Amino acid sequence: MQILIQNGTVVRSTGRRKADVLMRDGKIAQISERIDGPADRVIDAEGCYLFAGFIDTHTHFDLDLGVTVTADNFETGTKAAIVGGTTTVLDFATQDHGMTMHDALDLWHKKAEKSSCNYGFHMAVSEWNDARKAEVDDMFRAGVSSFKMYMVYDAMKVGDGQIYDAQKFIGARGGVIGVHCENYDILQARIAEEKAKGNLGPTGHPVSRPQAVEAEGVARLMRIAELSGYPAWVVHLSTADGLEEVRAARRRGVEVYAETCPQYFTLDVSQYAAKDGAKFVMSPPLREARDRAAILDGMKRRDIDFIGTDHCSFTMAQKALGKDDFSKIPNGGAGVQNRAELVYTYAVQTGAITLEQMALLMSERAARLFGMFPKKGVLKVGSDADLVIFDPNAPHTISWRTNLHNCDNSPYEGMQASGRVRDVILNGELVTENGTLVKPYGGRYVFRNPSERYRK
Ligand code: URP
Ligand code: ZN
Repeated sequence: MQILIQNGTVVRSTGRRKADVLMRDGKIAQISERIDGPADRVIDAEGCYLFAGFIDTHTHFDLDLGVTVTADNFETGTKAAIVGGTTTVLDFATQDHGMTMHDALDLWHKKAEKSSCNYGFHMAVSEWNDARKAEVDDMFRAGVSSFKMYMVYDAMKVGDGQIYDAQKFIGARGGVIGVHCENYDILQARIAEEKAKGNLGPTGHPVSRPQAVEAEGVARLMRIAELSGYPAWVVHLSTADGLEEVRAARRRGVEVYAETCPQYFTLDVSQYAAKDGAKFVMSPPLREARDRAAILDGMKRRDIDFIGTDHCSFTMAQKALGKDDFSKIPNGGAGVQNRAELVYTYAVQTGAITLEQMALLMSERAARLFGMFPKKGVLKVGSDADLVIFDPNAPHTISWRTNLHNCDNSPYEGMQASGRVRDVILNGELVTENGTLVKPYGGRYVFRNPSERYRK
């Protein structure tokens, strides 16, 4: 199978140029000023940008919280992902209490069978002990080189000493651990305070987890990494203060990787007061103008490494589990389909970042940190033929009604986007055409190598 894309502008982190791209047997075969074929399929990309397929570093599909299960499973979530230009998702296989990592990995492989984009797994660990440590080498052998730990959530929370020990153990093997950074004790105390005041609606959520709750967790993680001597990856960074902690740690020589999500530079804390404020209940919560500006500045200065979505969708009926108590609203929002158009509209078009930085944030750095580069994360000869044709002149309104995710709400409902993903090539095949998914279920497991640790 040969696909030839003509007249597009190839965008890489290092620059952009008008070029044709030929893909053969699932790989990029040629990139040059003019390629005339032959090819089985010729696509005209005049006026469009060509990016390496986008990588979403943070999704939660088919995640069972005990009280309820996410609205999206891999089948629905990856359909939304691929139409939005995400050719690889890194989801969190979750080792719940009493489970082994092997069990979790087997379970996630089953869950992901009907995927429409490529997928890999981070391993989220709820217990850190000798039995779990004995499984780590097998995880690497199975292509899992990144892990996650939580400072919060009763079902997942681990202690600082466990994070420290895991950083040393996993870091020595070339892996990285993402940490959800918030101060558990303080946020529990503040939830109780809000409830005692009778503030039971969604507006209580951001009050219970203010900026300092995240910044303290980030500062603590930075010190843990300083002591362990191994890298730290801060997941879904949302605050100016947290970003300052990352910068300060780097000045001390700590190797830190920072991820953010579109909700932290496009949405606002005032949204919790809306009638459907429950749909914005996610952790960390939406922030204020100064945080949004800081996150964009961090993207511009390359202090933020990559952008995931933290897609963790729940229907409004599921969100209603917390109608009388905000702390019972299932945490998370739907965003997997909208990342590229949001980054383009609210970061590139506004002048905060360049197209080249968009390429860096949407795929290259993730591919490097998570052991997929240069097969993924860059358009070059020999790389996998995962490619996005992005039309910068396609204004439209975002809505859950037109999104493919399986959920009756979107945090971005009604927002304008100026461009959109037009076509997507996955593993050398055209799977999305003119915004429509034409070939579902083409996703493959991505075996990942140890981390490149490009900030070492
Ligand atoms: O609210 C969120 N983000 N839910 C998903 C789990 C997590 O914290 O990443
Ligand atoms: Zn998450």
